[in-house]
Amino acid sequence: MYICVQKLELLEVFYSKKKLAGFLDSQKEIEKTIGLVPTMGALHEGHMSLIKEAREHSDIVVATIFVNPKQFDNKEDFDKYPVSIEDDIRMLETNECDAVFIPSEESLYGADDYRAFEMDLGYLDKILEGAKRPGHFNGVVEIVHLLFEIIHPDFVFFGMKDYQQVMVIEKMLNYIHSDILLFRCPIVRESDGLAISSRNRQLNRTERQLALNLHLTLLDIKDEYKKTNVQTLIDKHTERLNKLKNVVVDYIEIADSDTLQHLNEWKSAGKNLVLIAVFVGKVRLIDNLLF
Ligand code: PAF
Repeated sequence: MYICVQKLELLEVFYSKKKLAGFLDSQKEIEKTIGLVPTMGALHEGHMSLIKEAREHSDIVVATIFVNPKQFDNKEDFDKYPVSIEDDIRMLETNECDAVFIPSEESLYGADDYRAFEMDLGYLDKILEGAKRPGHFNGVVEIVHLLFEIIHPDFVFFGMKDYQQVMVIEKMLNYIHSDILLFRCPIVRESDGLAISSRNRQLNRTERQLALNLHLTLLDIKDEYKKTNVQTLIDKHTERLNKLKNVVVDYIEIADSDTLQHLNEWKSAGKNLVLIAVFVGKVRLIDNLLF
């Protein structure tokens, strides 16, 4: 007689830096590689695709959950950021994550050995998300640096929905932490095309429908690519979206995918990146498409 035993994956949950460090040291001693997936929680399929990618490349997969106040330029946005720790833990467990670190704000920014980390992000901090959300990327860089100092991962996994964030972190890796390898992971979409985001939870039913316009606009721009000049397309779609009730375009930009510099003329295939940020009701959503 065969008994089928389902393998139960055990997720280690750490609230303390010291205990996490102990766990990681024991893994590094036996030469295990560490893959890190930093998150702000409210986990979804997009995050799980990062965990899956991390699982493929690393021996030990560590996720972090911390809603980092320093990267919010708007207190209201921070206060209403969705939190679902218990569901997050369950999701990580079923997706074979090995460890999750859930620090308190005090344990990170209030620690005796805490030193503020700043670096010059250059023009990356002055355009698009950098321009619209002053201080945002400084906050991101600070927390990611802090997490790297605690975890010392071999690999780190970021989703390309936050395209500019990925470029910022890559710049940081060139400057410091050059031993960490960053994996760019593709955007995960709902079946109708909406990019999966924790912020989608804040949309009501009507707004959820309206939010589809982000992806549709990206696809339209891709379709019209080369038949119309760059600025005409940006203006046309900005105007069209702004006419929709409860929709306000923060920006539509068409940029060089390597530099994020504005394009005056189309580049060769695979180098044109359209980025969009739109308020749907009070919820600010971003998306992008490369073509
Ligand atoms: O992309 C995010 O969720 C956050 O910006 C990050 C990288 C976890 C830093 O707080």
